[in-house]
Amino acid sequence: MKPITKVVIPVAGWGTRSLPATKNIPKEMLPIYNKPVIQYVVEEAQASGMHNVILITNRDKSVIEDHFDHNLQLEGYLANKGKTEMLDAVKHVAEMVNIISIRQKEQKGLGHAILCAKAAIGHEPFSVMVGDDLIFGGTPGIQQLVDVAMSENKPVVGVMEVPWANVDKYGIVDGEEVGNGIYRVNDMVEKPAKDKAPSRLAIVGRYVLTPDIFEYLEKTEPGVGGEIQLTDAMRMLCKERGMMAVKIRGKRFDAGNWPEFLSANIYFGLQDENIRYPLIEELKQFLVLE
Ligand code: G1P
Repeated sequence: MKPITKVVIPVAGWGTRSLPATKNIPKEMLPIYNKPVIQYVVEEAQASGMHNVILITNRDKSVIEDHFDHNLQLEGYLANKGKTEMLDAVKHVAEMVNIISIRQKEQKGLGHAILCAKAAIGHEPFSVMVGDDLIFGGTPGIQQLVDVAMSENKPVVGVMEVPWANVDKYGIVDGEEVGNGIYRVNDMVEKPAKDKAPSRLAIVGRYVLTPDIFEYLEKTEPGVGGEIQLTDAMRMLCKERGMMAVKIRGKRFDAGNWPEFLSANIYFGLQDENIRYPLIEELKQFLVLE
């Protein structure tokens, strides 16, 4: 498989789970400690060799593109004031990756969002990262998929085991373990009923796909929730070409889930020596730690 340099990040969703915070701010711009959610996702892509980021957006999301561009006025101000550390931090964000932005003019589901990237992808393999899913620790999440895609020469989905009670919230993989945490996918199903799920291996928003997925997306009829589901197109891709799944090693936070979002804030705060101890002191005031 050719090297993967392009990542598609769909960011056109309403963020209803995070209302009212997201009434006028894209959910991708909510901060986790000192960076917006989207920056963590882009950093994971960049750390995995993907420097071309295709954002699938809507009319209310241009602030996301702005975040990855220079703000010359701010940079000038910081330079004048001699605030070099801050200046470096804001310049770094602007220089991280190339951004291509494509409007999804109607919200018809994740599969439809990915189809919007067809012309920008062309004939190369590419990755997809769902911006709500943050994965940390060790090898970057998407890199773990790329490693398997390269060695097996097949598209790959990232999975994690979830409790049986939650299988109806995810795409679920039916696979056969062929290596440590690596599965050959037999089939997959989008948001199955709890008693119909083939396993509790849930797709967690990381994919390496080949460009033939677009043919299948074009044929995909609306599925669960009346939406064009990426999982339904991948079932066809899997039948024709075969697919692998890899159990991603790392800690996952679903940024659209308030307890996990808040926990991610504390996780990153605790990692920064400058605020670690003051943060612990703050937390002690209202937490009884056993
Ligand atoms: C989407 C996918 C689903 C996947 C999930 C991971 O669902 O359709 O297969 O498991 O992302 O976050 P959504 O959460 O957009 O409903």
